[in-house]
Amino acid sequence: MSEKYFIKTFGCQMNVYDSHRMSVILENFGYEATDNQKDADLVLFNTCHIREKAAEKVFSDLGRAYLIKQERAAEGKNTIIGVTGCVVQAEDEQIAKRAPYVDFALGPLTYHRLPEILTKIRRKRGETVIDTDFPAEAKFDFLPENRSEGGCSFLAVQEGCNNFCTYCVVPYTRGAEYSRPVKEVVDEAKKLIATGTLELNLLGQNVNSYHGEDENGKERNLAYLLRKLAELDGLKRLRYTTSYPADVDDDLINCHRDLPQLMPYLHLPVQSGSDKILKAMNRRHNRAQYLEVIEKLKKANDKLRFSSDFIVGFPGETDDDFKQTLSLVNEVKYIQAFSFKYSRRPGTPAAVMPNQLEEKVKKERLDELQTLLFDYQTKFNEACVGKTFEVLFEQQGRHKGQLIGRTPYMQNLHAKADTNMLNKIVDVKVEQATTNSLSGKVI
Ligand code: SAH
Ligand code: SF4
Ligand code: F3S
Repeated sequence: MSEKYFIKTFGCQMNVYDSHRMSVILENFGYEATDNQKDADLVLFNTCHIREKAAEKVFSDLGRAYLIKQERAAEGKNTIIGVTGCVVQAEDEQIAKRAPYVDFALGPLTYHRLPEILTKIRRKRGETVIDTDFPAEAKFDFLPENRSEGGCSFLAVQEGCNNFCTYCVVPYTRGAEYSRPVKEVVDEAKKLIATGTLELNLLGQNVNSYHGEDENGKERNLAYLLRKLAELDGLKRLRYTTSYPADVDDDLINCHRDLPQLMPYLHLPVQSGSDKILKAMNRRHNRAQYLEVIEKLKKANDKLRFSSDFIVGFPGETDDDFKQTLSLVNEVKYIQAFSFKYSRRPGTPAAVMPNQLEEKVKKERLDELQTLLFDYQTKFNEACVGKTFEVLFEQQGRHKGQLIGRTPYMQNLHAKADTNMLNKIVDVKVEQATTNSLSGKVI
C-alpha cells in the first residue's frame, strides 16, 4: 500500500497553486492523497503570514498534528510533519523553537526541493531540515509537469513584489518580483488544457507587473501574454489576479475590449479611499487615479465589474478617512470584496507608525464597511435573476444531483445537473439569488 499525504492550505490563490504543484511532486514520488489527517504518513501545512490570525493558526494546527503523530506512533506508524509557505520564510526560527517536532520547513521559493528533503528525512537522524533560501535557480525549472485537477486551473506567471506597501509582509516572504518566460507559461497552459482545463486564472502577487522574456529575450507585458494564451485551442476562459492599480496599462485595458475569453470581472484592490492613507500605505495610486483606471476599463468593456481588497483601521485613519473609503465603494459599486482589519506585522514600517487604532474602532469600521459591501453584492446578485449565464461546473453540490460552478462574474451558482456536466461550460438561467450564491436551471 502506498503512503498517504495530507495538505492543508492557508492564504491566497498562489498558495493553492503551490499546494497543487506539491501534490504533483508527492504523487510522482509515490504518495497518494488523503482528506483524513489521521491516515496521513506525511502532513503538510502550506502557510500564510499576511495577518496575525492566519500565522498563529498554524501553530495550533501543528500542536494538533503532533498529538496525532504520537497516537500513530503508538500504533507503530511513522508520521512526517512539514511546513511550507510564507510563515516559514518569516518565522523559521520560531517554528524550530515552538514546534521542534516539525521534520522539515521549506520556504515558498524552495518547495521544488521536496523530493530531496523527503529522502534526507527518511534516512533521518532526528534533526529538523529547514530551507528558506531565496535560491538563485527558479523553482519552476525543477518542478514536474503540471496537470489539471478540473476545468479551472491556476497558473503562476509572476511571483514576489517590489512595491513594499507599508503594512505588507509579502515582499519579505515571496522576495523580489520574478516573471516566468512567455514560452514556459504557454507550455504549462498547453499541458493544463490537454488535461482538461477550460479556464485559466493567471496568478501573481502583482500579476500585471508581469515582464517575462519572449524567445528573443525581449520583455513582454501581461497583455502580450494574454493575447498569446487566447490563441490556444480549447481555452474558453481567462482571468488574472491580483492586479496592482498603478500598473494597469492601456495594452491591458484593450485586452478587455478585444479578447472574448477574458472574463468581465476584475479584482483591483484599492485598500483605502483616502489619499492621506494611500500615501501612508505607500500605494502608488491615489483615489482619482484609481477611479480613472476603473473608468477606462469600463469604457473598454461595459460588462466589466470589479472586486477589491480593503484595509480598515490603518494607523492614523480618521473617521473622515474611513468615510472616504465608504464613498469610494458607493462610486465603484463592487460586486464582491475582501475587507480586513489592519493587522500589525512585525518588521513592516506601518507596525511602528504612531496612532495605531484600537481594536474596537477597527471592528466598528469593518462592520460598517462590510454591511455596505454586502449590500452591493446582494443587489448585483439579485439583478442576475432571470438572466442566462455560461457556468463552468467545478464540483458536486451538497445535495444529490446538484453541481456547483462559477458564472463569468465569479459568483457561485448551484443547479440540478447531471454529473456528466462536471468540468463543462453550460448555459444556466438564474432563478434565485442570495448575498453569496445563485441558483438556477440548466437550459
Ligand atoms: N498583492 C496583492 C494582495 C496581497 S495580500 C495586492 O497588492 O493587492 C491580500 C490582501 O491582504 C491585501 O490586498 C490587503 O488588503 C490585505 N493585507 C495585507 N497586509 C495586511 C495587514 N497587515 N493587515 C490587514 N490586511 C492586510
Ligand atoms: Fe503586499 Fe502591496 Fe505587494 Fe500587494 S503590492 S503584495 S499589498 S506589498
Ligand atoms: Fe499569505 Fe503568502 Fe499569499 S503571506 S496571502 S500565502 S503570498
